[in-house]
Amino acid sequence: MLETIYERRSVRKYLDKPVDKKTVEEILKAGMYAPSAVNKQPWHFIVCDTREAVERVHKLHPYSTMLKTAPVCILVFGDTDLEFCPGFYITDCSAATENILLAAKALGLDTCWLGIYPHKDMQEAFSKEFNLPANVVPFAAIALGYGDEKKERPDRFDAGKIHYNKW
Ligand SMILES: Cc1cc2nc3c(=O)[nH]c(=O)nc-3n(C[C@H](O)[C@H](O)[C@H](O)COP(=O)(O)O)c2cc1C
Repeated sequence: MLETIYERRSVRKYLDKPVDKKTVEEILKAGMYAPSAVNKQPWHFIVCDTREAVERVHKLHPYSTMLKTAPVCILVFGDTDLEFCPGFYITDCSAATENILLAAKALGLDTCWLGIYPHKDMQEAFSKEFNLPANVVPFAAIALGYGDEKKERPDRFDAGKIHYNKW
């Protein structure tokens, strides 16, 4: 488990190798096992798994060059009708997104988290493109596939960020 956390990297180049539907669903299941405030699970997902569908996301997101090679892109949405109180969809969807990244890594795949929230203009563009109801808000996109680049594990432990009992 800890190795999965330490070895996960944002991968921006993918092999031309499909990801089977069962694997994608297992990864989404892990997303749905994330903690959420009052267990409201205020999330929805759109799986883009055709070149055309992934390209559609690429066109909407200015920092998504990896979607030129990623075979799958998962869109994560918050549901403001389900969230415990205003704003909780952000923390809940963050937890679900991180679970997805780690589950993918554990299954031998790679990912890259693409922020949509808090870019209002991007959120609006996705809402329009996917014809979303008002309560469904675009949160993030996740590139998914078998990575075609090797990244070193960085050293991020920083004792200076830890504070005991007082600031
Ligand atoms: C909220 C959020 C938004 C991000 N948005 C993008 C993005 O739009 N494009 C991109 O290439 N990477 C994006 N990333 C990935 C970060 O650049 C990456 O996590 C960071 O550089 C650390 O590298 P690592 O994920 O390999 O550990 C995002 C990450 C987070 C958590």
